[in-house]
Amino acid sequence: MDLSKIKPLITEKDIQRRVKELADELNRTYSNHSRVYIIGILRGCFIFLSDLVRHLTFPLVIDFISVGSYGKSLESSGVVKIIEDLNVSLSGETVIVVEDIIDTRLSLSAVDKILRARKPRELRYCALLDKPSRKQVEFEVDWLGFTIPDEFVVGYGLDASERYRNLKFIGVLADD
Ligand code: IMP
Ligand code: MG
Repeated sequence: MDLSKIKPLITEKDIQRRVKELADELNRTYSNHSRVYIIGILRGCFIFLSDLVRHLTFPLVIDFISVGSYGKSLESSGVVKIIEDLNVSLSGETVIVVEDIIDTRLSLSAVDKILRARKPRELRYCALLDKPSRKQVEFEVDWLGFTIPDEFVVGYGLDASERYRNLKFIGVLADD
């Protein structure tokens, strides 16, 4: 793999430390719950979610939803379609949605409308990264890993045209 175009931004060690901190907060919040639904938004969440849930100590159910937005690949259009839906019902359940990165926030606020319509008892959000400078709509998550500058990042689940998802660190992809 050619890593010469990638400038390291967050090290593997810092990611792992922060994921553990987030999990500790979730464990404190949900320790008395008998069942929490962890919903990952594919595909960017897959590594973050895998690391996070292995630190969680309350009973949980894991499922995934895959959504796509119409329009250019790197930019969100805000019009979201479900590509692969959940297998579980969220009605009356406590739900934590896990996302890799929030950028314009258009896709997450569209997903929020879709999931809210399913009447969960509680619906909260955990994202690894936030690029607040690109915000187009108000949408704050309940747990956040890192705030990052307005740069296109890859690694630890995040891709550029499906590449680099398997990097253990997060880096900025240089323009060609
Ligand atoms: P938005 O918040 O609606 O703009 O969309 C967020 C989604 O765009 C994320 O779930 C990612 O799939 C993708 N995305 C946004 N910024 C980046 C980035 O820097 N690297 C990789 N994917 C990104
Ligand atoms: Mg994503």
